[in-house]
Amino acid sequence: EERKTKQAEVNIGMVGHVDHGKTTLTKALTGVWTDTHSEELRRGITIKIGFADAEIRKCPNCGRYSTSPVCPYCGHETEFVRRVSFIDAPGHEALMTTMLAGASLMDGAILVIAANEPCPRPQTREHLMALQIIGQKNIIIAQNKIELVDREKALENYRQIKEFIKGTVAENAPIIPISALHGANIDVLVKAIEDFIPTPKRDPNKPPKMLVLRSFDVNKPGTPPEKLVGGVLGGSIVQGKLKVGDEIEIRPGVPYEEHGRIKYEPITTEIVSLQAGGKFVEEAYPGGLVGVGTKLDPYLTKGDLMAGNVVGKPGKLPPVWEELRLEVHLLERVVGTEQELKVEPIKRKEVLLLNVGTARTMGLVTGLGKDEIELKLQIPVCAEPGDRVAISRQIGSRWRLIGYGFIRE
Ligand code: GTP
Ligand code: MG
Ligand code: MG
Repeated sequence: EERKTKQAEVNIGMVGHVDHGKTTLTKALTGVWTDTHSEELRRGITIKIGFADAEIRKCPNCGRYSTSPVCPYCGHETEFVRRVSFIDAPGHEALMTTMLAGASLMDGAILVIAANEPCPRPQTREHLMALQIIGQKNIIIAQNKIELVDREKALENYRQIKEFIKGTVAENAPIIPISALHGANIDVLVKAIEDFIPTPKRDPNKPPKMLVLRSFDVNKPGTPPEKLVGGVLGGSIVQGKLKVGDEIEIRPGVPYEEHGRIKYEPITTEIVSLQAGGKFVEEAYPGGLVGVGTKLDPYLTKGDLMAGNVVGKPGKLPPVWEELRLEVHLLERVVGTEQELKVEPIKRKEVLLLNVGTARTMGLVTGLGKDEIELKLQIPVCAEPGDRVAISRQIGSRWRLIGYGFIRE
């Protein structure tokens, strides 16, 4: 049971259309209600990415899985299998780029589909497309709210799901009927997590790389200057490990003005504290939400100002790009709208929204080639050649996923 204190080893995304039950399922698995911001509570929707950890456990007596120390099915004590972290994404159509930032940290995903609505709904399609675009293959489908429909309706919905996933990355994903609200069939879902979402093989000797999803000023207003603590970065480590005392570099870094233009400068600092799974630790690894306490001026990190940055060892981070050349793959149809419109070709001078890891930026199209575009970025991004970029276009009042690209050198 020593591992109990360890941090989560794998990130599992909760994705799908608005209100289909992602946050409720996260609660059923972890006991944590991840919608905590006042705006989220007021509107009843998820707005920010939520993280919550759970221990996957197996009952040695009846063999069923759960996330509880006592078997909910037979009352026997359960055995620890592994600690996992759930990344609860928003389903609202206006928050697609938030979902994409979260998706870049997922090692697998549960696509939540409500059984009492026709399938697919627009963000069911758009989220599955997002998983496909980032190359995510470890997918489970949770057919939720099953207690709201009769057997016939459930089967009809099941057939719609089957038809929808045909020919996609989720073609062979298991479809598990559940009720997140009543905790029904959760043991089968947890077993599917064990079978379909393995912990990725990690190389601890690779240089560390953390993608920043949030950043904070954790000081209470009115704290005297000598008591102020430095800025905190929140995100997930995608390779290597970080230690308290490490010197780190953050790219693309902090904005400054030069000749009336905003530029970015990488910044180095020291890790003064580390949190993983809500506990202070000396070392942090891939899996779950990691909080990095630094010596940065908290003014730089307040209100998610550093989201989208990459953290690593000085001199070991990928390059920063102010301009990008992308090998482009456009979708045939816009999947996130009720009516599936045709995707028009990209035009010179149009502005596209790009997601690269947890970073999002606008790109002005400055060059068009065969299956290739060149863009001038509003905010530079830190990424490797070959990295995937999700491409969205404004259609009506929303940004819609229209394709993806690979960064060319
Ligand atoms: P967004 O994050 O805004 O996309 O929504 P979500 O997918 O997280 O949905 P959420 O968990 O907030 O649930 C939306 C509504 O559906 C709430 O009123 C839940 O109580 C309800 N709900 C979720 N799961 C179930 C279920 O299994 N059965 C029933 N009857 N209602 C459910
Ligand atoms: Mg939610
Ligand atoms: Mg909701």
